[in-house]
Amino acid sequence: MQITILGSAAGGGFPQWNCNCRNCAGVRSGSVRAKPRTQSSIFVRADGQADGVLFNASPDILQQIRANPSLQPGRAVRDTAIAGVVLIDGQVDHATGLFMLRERGSALPLWCTDAVAEDLTQGNPVLRVLQHYCGVERRRIEPDGTPFVIPGVAGIELRAFALASKAAPYSPHRDAPTPGDNIGVLIADRARGRSIFYAPGLGEMTPALFDTMCGADAVLVDGTFFTDDEMPRLGLSRKSARDIGHLPQSGHGGMIEWLDRLPARTRRLLIHVNNTNPILDEDSIERATLARHAIEVCEDGMTIEL
Ligand code: MLT
Ligand code: MN
Ligand code: ZN
Repeated sequence: MQITILGSAAGGGFPQWNCNCRNCAGVRSGSVRAKPRTQSSIFVRADGQADGVLFNASPDILQQIRANPSLQPGRAVRDTAIAGVVLIDGQVDHATGLFMLRERGSALPLWCTDAVAEDLTQGNPVLRVLQHYCGVERRRIEPDGTPFVIPGVAGIELRAFALASKAAPYSPHRDAPTPGDNIGVLIADRARGRSIFYAPGLGEMTPALFDTMCGADAVLVDGTFFTDDEMPRLGLSRKSARDIGHLPQSGHGGMIEWLDRLPARTRRLLIHVNNTNPILDEDSIERATLARHAIEVCEDGMTIEL
């Protein structure tokens, strides 16, 4: 199967429109060696298939489709390679692009948990608004590891797992987490017997979750922040990484320590990188630290073949 990284940045993208942190100012002026990135989304298809599944609909989706011409196979006057959309959570950076898909000729097949469907019907009523356009054919994801497939996406099987992370600020569960506010998905290519675990928002590792990650050929996980106090230290927020549901890379119990314990053959990639994260600077000490641990940082347009 082929996993295309449509967008590798967290909410806000990189550079963020109003941000002049070292990274954002540096990538604009060219003084920091870093690549701009759009917001969090991937596209997955089996080998030889035109159609696939979109994970998350980023605010940057139109730019992402233009940058990846295979998402527009051009088989008819109106066409798309997006056979269905899976949402990992109901946050702005993962759901806003749904508005941009409103010109579809038929209802949009949308897979999400009950918790996310509720947030996108009430707190941020995207699904209600879309009923005035193409409509939504909503399918329930049970975040309990039950295998499911997306009609029209041949050869790919999914299993979703509830994660400890955070629902969006407009969610009634923001401070009372519900299983399904955020999920990780094990994406398997049945014919090849290969799989990747995708979790752009992962606040806490558990033994069961780590077991699932150990069984995958690759992990594509939360790369939001390098340190827990990254935002407070820059004076940009009072909240730590863990406060908003993201496990930082560094420190005791951080993502680097966990990834070190995976089987040696597992490919390790970070996605959903916040614009403040020093790993975006290709010359940074933090980026060199990741390289020493064989951890890759996703870039927009990159393809993972499994
Ligand atoms: C998050 O995952 O915490 C988000 O990127 C926040 C946002 O989209 O504003
Ligand atoms: Mn996000
Ligand atoms: Zn910034």
